[in-house]
Amino acid sequence: MMSAPMSAVDADRGGAPVSHRPLGILAALPQELGDLLEAMRAEAGVRTITHGQRDYHLGTVHGAPCVVTLARVGKVAAAATVSALIHAFDVEAIVFTGVAGGVGAEVRVGDIVVADALLQHDLDASPLFPRFEVPLLGVSHFSADAALAGQLAAACERFVAEEGAASAARFGTREPRVHRGLIISGDQFVASAEGVRALRDALPNALAVEMEGAAIAQVCHEYGVPCAVVRTISDTADDHAPASFVSFLTEIAGTYSNAILTRFLQARGSRV
Ligand code: ADE
Repeated sequence: MMSAPMSAVDADRGGAPVSHRPLGILAALPQELGDLLEAMRAEAGVRTITHGQRDYHLGTVHGAPCVVTLARVGKVAAAATVSALIHAFDVEAIVFTGVAGGVGAEVRVGDIVVADALLQHDLDASPLFPRFEVPLLGVSHFSADAALAGQLAAACERFVAEEGAASAARFGTREPRVHRGLIISGDQFVASAEGVRALRDALPNALAVEMEGAAIAQVCHEYGVPCAVVRTISDTADDHAPASFVSFLTEIAGTYSNAILTRFLQARGSRV
């Protein structure tokens, strides 16, 4: 068992306790993290600890202490990774970044969705329990932490205001819009018109679909750890989704992630 990084609470600064516990930042795939690890290396060096077949990178980015890792794909992988971040690395909060399929009528490729709540769309123990409800927990919608989600959304809005037009011109997308609302997760890559229609019919408020967020939100809920999820829309979960996903992931996802996380961490780093 590795030793967890030191955590401390500094009550000397202005009386208000300032946590020095790190922020856990994760994505499913390396492209979704952008240059975060390079930024960490350049700032003060990185200590890497391997645990449960994953590499956890410890350091600071823009002055904010962070543990950065890759969850890989799907709900089990995400839940296992976030559990390690909580128990082995004592993170203060979790931020998940990556891409998603657009489900809401107004949500297009290149837009950004910040979750207010997350739900597992493939969880169905009916008729024993209501569809989507996590049995014995009695919850279907897991709330993102309001403050953390607000900070992420503010970072997204700053990115759009400062670079949205240039990024749209560069990537041939429309100028990004920032949406807040329900993100749904399941162990499926949704890639058909009827698949996405079925999700819209069952969950009319859903804005985006992906494969990890609600699992992370459930684990964070159970351990009382604040979490937030930001997703850039790579496809619209229809028949074009596989091609759109691959080109967005390889050409655009990292740029968006850098732009959002940089602004988010700069604001956070100036706090600690
Ligand atoms: N992540 C990005 N696009 C997705 C899709 N269409 N389905 C599930 N997860 C996704």
